[in-house]
Amino acid sequence: MDDETLARLLAAARAVREHAYAPYSGFAVGAALLDEHGRVHAGCNVENAAYPQGWCAETSALAAMVGAGGRRVLGLVVVGVAPRPLTPCGGCRQKLREFAADDCPVWSADLERVHARFTLAELLPASFGPGHLETSA
Ligand code: THU
Repeated sequence: MDDETLARLLAAARAVREHAYAPYSGFAVGAALLDEHGRVHAGCNVENAAYPQGWCAETSALAAMVGAGGRRVLGLVVVGVAPRPLTPCGGCRQKLREFAADDCPVWSADLERVHARFTLAELLPASFGPGHLETSA
């Protein structure tokens, strides 16, 4: 991915993070991804008084992509302010895996800089995916 596209993702993730609804954790997150059509989709975390019913920024971004007709994630940025590089939770890694290849880059950033770059396979090795459901019968 070129620098300009990464900059678009960073800007989108930082902008949508401003709208995070995180009154319970106080931890605002924004995520933005690039789809196979070259479009950027972004989302923030949305919490809920019934705590387990909240969802992550990555899930919001994936839902925006799917709703817009996108089916492949070519790269994703997650933005949060934390003492160590923020990475997607386990559930979001699996959700991302549905739409992304093993070499899909995942960048972790805060409001100023990018702190880490992972591939999806680094975050979710030996993953379960659609291929496991293919049957020969
Ligand atoms: N969260 C995300 O939105 N993305 C991540 O990558 C990590 C965690 C959210 C979930 C919850 O609203 C808050 O951050 C604290 O866990």
